[in-house]
Amino acid sequence: MSSYIIEGGKKLEGKTYVSGSKNASLPIIAATILNQGISKLYNVPRIHDTQMMIEILKKLGCKVKCNKNKVVVDSSNVNNYEIPERLMREMRSSVILAGSIVGRYKKAIFSYPGGCDIGVRPIDLHIKGFEKLGINVQESFGKIICLVDEIKGTEINLDFPSVGATENIILASVLGNGKTIIRNAAMEPEIEDLQNFLNRMGARVEGAGTKTIIINGVHKLKDVSYNIMPDRIETGTLLCAAAVTGGKIVLERANSEHIKPVIDKLEEAGCKIEIERDFIILDAPKKLKAVDINTMPYPGFPTDMQSIFGAILCTATGTSIITENIFESRFKYSGELQRMGAKIIIKDKSLIIKGVRKLYGTKVKATDLRGGAALIVAALKAKGKTEIEDIKYILRGYEKIEKKLIDLGGNIKVLIN
Ligand code: EPZ
Repeated sequence: MSSYIIEGGKKLEGKTYVSGSKNASLPIIAATILNQGISKLYNVPRIHDTQMMIEILKKLGCKVKCNKNKVVVDSSNVNNYEIPERLMREMRSSVILAGSIVGRYKKAIFSYPGGCDIGVRPIDLHIKGFEKLGINVQESFGKIICLVDEIKGTEINLDFPSVGATENIILASVLGNGKTIIRNAAMEPEIEDLQNFLNRMGARVEGAGTKTIIINGVHKLKDVSYNIMPDRIETGTLLCAAAVTGGKIVLERANSEHIKPVIDKLEEAGCKIEIERDFIILDAPKKLKAVDINTMPYPGFPTDMQSIFGAILCTATGTSIITENIFESRFKYSGELQRMGAKIIIKDKSLIIKGVRKLYGTKVKATDLRGGAALIVAALKAKGKTEIEDIKYILRGYEKIEKKLIDLGGNIKVLIN
């Protein structure tokens, strides 16, 4: 188990860059199965989750070549339609492959992805969407078997704007017959990136970024090259790291539009933020002001930033209230922050954070990807040395995060245990 050792108390200053989006890369890598040809992807973050997705593609018969952040997929000879159970359980987001596989093969076999550290993570909306498309979904011995003669376009109304369900239904409809309309669709920017990729491939998808998405089925797709959008959650994480240390940083290759709710809250907390093309310049005050946070589907405040923003509010002036409306158990990190001296009470779906003068370095454990990122941010602020154990969670979603923080003057080392 590797750990981060962080010596806190230093302002972050200087310039670094944002990598490609994990949550845009995963559905786009899955979508390469559809064109039975060559897909060249650029700006793919080299992290555990994208590497896992590539491993699964290889198991399905794809040839994949990776070179730094370039990934070339040849899906001409996909000869398998079953997602290996071990890989499904190791990375729940691989459920997104089901839409592509059943869209191309009219057959897919996968298992329930299982819950994770932030909640039960059901896939009922994915399955309901598949059934509305005429796909027969059976469960036997823990496996989910999807079978269909012909995917027929239809209207699907999502009970909740689920990101994964929206993406899976789009992927299953691209090669279907007729028009599919998804209502109450998720509006996250990653879905727009998926739409742009698919249309570049010859699909006909419109409306991503709005609540209604229309897919007109096509019969043939072509080779494609595509540049993945920047990671908006890494952008928010780096901004929060600078904000909590009273620093001043320049972030390159960022898309400020995608992270507007976080920028607004950082300004409310006292930071000065300038936007120049794909640069974000943040200048933080010595001490942040308490703010209240309500996580919502996009374009609301992103749930993935809840723990990271919670970490910076632990030393703000005043009391903040954070309400988590998306996942049912996304406060595990708060216990670790309390070990550092944070004053936090959990009340139903809310965290009440009373700002303290200081946090103190100690040994803490990452509980999940974004909970782990919250501990990094808290440790950069804390007095003394913090050891963060189980950083495998953090390596799932952040490319070279320690190098970027060192670029900004942070004191962080990796300890291989
Ligand atoms: C995506 O997960 C992201 N993951 C998550 O990021 C992100 O937190 C989430 O969207 C919300 O923005 C990827 O894109 C790989 P949902 P997803 O389906 O698709 C319930 C990270 O840290 N729901 O929008 O799984 C579900 O339980 C990760 O990068 C159902 O009830 O999220 C949750 O309460 C964590 N039935 C809510 O909807 C379903 O069939 C939102 O889930 C599906 C979801």
